[in-house]
Amino acid sequence: MHISVIGTGYVGLVTGACFAEFGVNVTCMDTDARRIAKLEKGEVPFFEPGITELVSKGIKEDRLHFTTDVAKAVDKALVIFIAVGTPPKSDGSADLSYVEEVGRGIAKNMTGYKVIVTKSTVPVGTGEKLREVIKANQTGRFRFDIVSNPEFLREGSAIEDFMRPNRVVIGADSEQAVAIMKDLYRPLYLLETPIVVTDIPTAEMIKYASNAFLAVKISFINEIATVCEKVGADVQMVSKGMGLDNRIGNKFLHAGPGFGGSCFPKDLAALVQTGERVGYPFQIAGAAAKVNYEQHLRMVQKVKDACGGVKGKTLGVLGLSFKPNTNDMREAPSLTILSELMKEGATIRAYDPASMEESVKLLPGMVPCQDTYDVAEGADGLIIMTEWNQFRNLDFERLKKSMKEPLLLDLRNTYESDRVVTYGFRHVSVGRTT
Ligand code: UGA
Repeated sequence: MHISVIGTGYVGLVTGACFAEFGVNVTCMDTDARRIAKLEKGEVPFFEPGITELVSKGIKEDRLHFTTDVAKAVDKALVIFIAVGTPPKSDGSADLSYVEEVGRGIAKNMTGYKVIVTKSTVPVGTGEKLREVIKANQTGRFRFDIVSNPEFLREGSAIEDFMRPNRVVIGADSEQAVAIMKDLYRPLYLLETPIVVTDIPTAEMIKYASNAFLAVKISFINEIATVCEKVGADVQMVSKGMGLDNRIGNKFLHAGPGFGGSCFPKDLAALVQTGERVGYPFQIAGAAAKVNYEQHLRMVQKVKDACGGVKGKTLGVLGLSFKPNTNDMREAPSLTILSELMKEGATIRAYDPASMEESVKLLPGMVPCQDTYDVAEGADGLIIMTEWNQFRNLDFERLKKSMKEPLLLDLRNTYESDRVVTYGFRHVSVGRTT
């Protein structure tokens, strides 16, 4: 089978490379000629474990191709995935202009029956809108079907998530399209992956509901953490005790500086906006976003309290990306927290294993460092902002020698206090009093 993927961003490229690995013939299309030229040489423009190897393999085995020509992408493909951006507009609603533009491009270049699939997170109703755009711009009278097949990949473990998903959601109103989509995902049958077949708006809603629910879980545990600090309870044990209830589950109950990334903040805003559009103010999604922003600010206060004010102080920061194993800085908690601390007069020395280049641009005034121990030099406190594995086994003896004050501000609850205090460090974490 030939398929194409339009948009070689994060979702598009992972989708293309993984389908090529499934043995499908894939053409990835993007209007960005420089990006395509690099991809043709196997150069991936973002950091994601395993993706470069998979792209190179696909190219070598002649199953993964790249083009800037939409006609080429449409011509042979039976299935066309749309994986272009849907950035938030100023009112929080998703900007669908890229999706619509792709729809017009497909319409004008169709040469036969096509299954046209939205893979990016798109608001409920986009499938129908896309159908209208294609119908209005078709030059020939070819049949086509629209499918919503939302992706549930997490940055940092995208390939594993694609290859071993919890479920595949197919929203369609045509048996033929469902059969083709099922065929495409056939390699997952061995793993007995559940396939949820439903209508298009329901599939679109599943994506928003899933992301919003996960965001709510995080904001919920972050609020519990704040109360834990006040009543002398330990949020880690509260999460454990809650999570053992199968109805709750232990995932996404890890307290920290608040969530970031390109998905949760954007999808919450879009859900709130959808609610407004249909006359139902979606309260929980709005509350989760508000709690999250306040959580960033609470971290600023936590650092200030621990240091007795930050004016004139030097703070070392480990990790800047919104989570480990990515260089993505979109909506990263570090942006708000560190900007505030710098505004308050702190000097920030920081290191991230993957996002230094981007961070330096986003956090003017921050002193970029080479590694953990460079960060700690002369610091009045060391903040763990992102829980990269390499920060989980710090050499506290060595850190203590180079720091001005032995203070660990562990915003990801990476360490048990017992261990840290043995080295003479003060340990401040989230939702725990010790
Ligand atoms: C999220 C979803 O998990 C994916 O299923 C979805 O496909 C994706 O959005 C998307 O819509 O594209 P992602 O944003 O890559 O994936 O990252 P997550 O692993 O979900 O983490 C999001 C944020 O929540 C991070 O800042 C992380 O540090 C934070 N988090 C996560 C917590 O603070 N506590 C937790 O317990 C879990």
